[in-house]
Amino acid sequence: MPTTLNNIAKQGANGAAMMPIIQGVGRAAIEIAAVLRGAVFRGALGEAGGENVQGEQQQKLDVLSDEIFLEEMRSTGFVCAVGSEEQEELLVIDEYAHADYLVLVDPLDGSSNLDVDGPVGTIFSVVKRETPNDQQPDVSDTLQAGRNVVAAGYVLYGPALMLVCSVGAGVNGYTFNPNDARFELSHPDMRIPETGGYYSVNESNKDKWLDGMGDNLDRMKAETGLGMRYVGAMVADMHRTLLKGGVFLYPADQKNVTGKLRLLYEAIPMGFVMEQAGGKAMSAGQPVLDVEPEALHQRVPVYLGSATNVDALLG
Ligand code: AHG
Ligand code: MN
Ligand code: MN
Repeated sequence: MPTTLNNIAKQGANGAAMMPIIQGVGRAAIEIAAVLRGAVFRGALGEAGGENVQGEQQQKLDVLSDEIFLEEMRSTGFVCAVGSEEQEELLVIDEYAHADYLVLVDPLDGSSNLDVDGPVGTIFSVVKRETPNDQQPDVSDTLQAGRNVVAAGYVLYGPALMLVCSVGAGVNGYTFNPNDARFELSHPDMRIPETGGYYSVNESNKDKWLDGMGDNLDRMKAETGLGMRYVGAMVADMHRTLLKGGVFLYPADQKNVTGKLRLLYEAIPMGFVMEQAGGKAMSAGQPVLDVEPEALHQRVPVYLGSATNVDALLG
């Protein structure tokens, strides 16, 4: 018998509580993957005509993925609210407003890859509410440092559909097996290689980087001799970094002076997974998981990878 997502219940102190939510992520992933595959036939590629709270053009698939994800979280009965890249405000799930957990999500990551059939992903993390259960949850419940995260992970819509997640007891990767229509454990106990791999960054921004990061990168390249890969979808770049080693970075620059990637639904979930896989996740001068969030859509600089390579970059 293959090991399925059911084994999450056996993982650490939070496994049993997190299993229904991660199974909900799995259902959302299967539905989003189907929508992505058929999008061109249904006129679902291209812009939706609106902007999200970050002033970015929403793609139709951003909006569809957001709807699917929210509906699957609602159906778990364990989620009281969802904070999404595509929603300005926290979305409270009225019928389960007493439930214990909130989910933060980037429903479709790397959406600039959609028109070229490139890889995209979904990123999520789960926190426990701090407000009493008999009150409405509010945005303060989402503003918790990454050290409080109970579970986090990502879905990669690549040649295979993968769900990689951690409930705080290491990292496991599950691949959707189309023959059995379920996720099966394909990558148990993922650990990032300490050396080797690639550096991964949008190097075209180098002249605009702040904090002397251009010089840091040049020094790291000379020291490590790493080659370069960059997809432009954080999920795909993170997944390769996790499997092959190296470092992924998105520094602050003159255009994005506090960084581009969002703390709560990009940096923290990926930082959580990276630390759980034995790697290192830094932001401006401190670990990503120690940054005290101030706003739902806050952006931060991000440096993720093996400790050896992150230290070589920032050291
Ligand atoms: P999203 O599609 O959710 O807005 O995220 C895009 C992010 C992330 O996936 C990626 O690492 C980064 O933007 C790429 O940015 P550049 O195109 O500036 O390199
Ligand atoms: Mn994203
Ligand atoms: Mn997105």
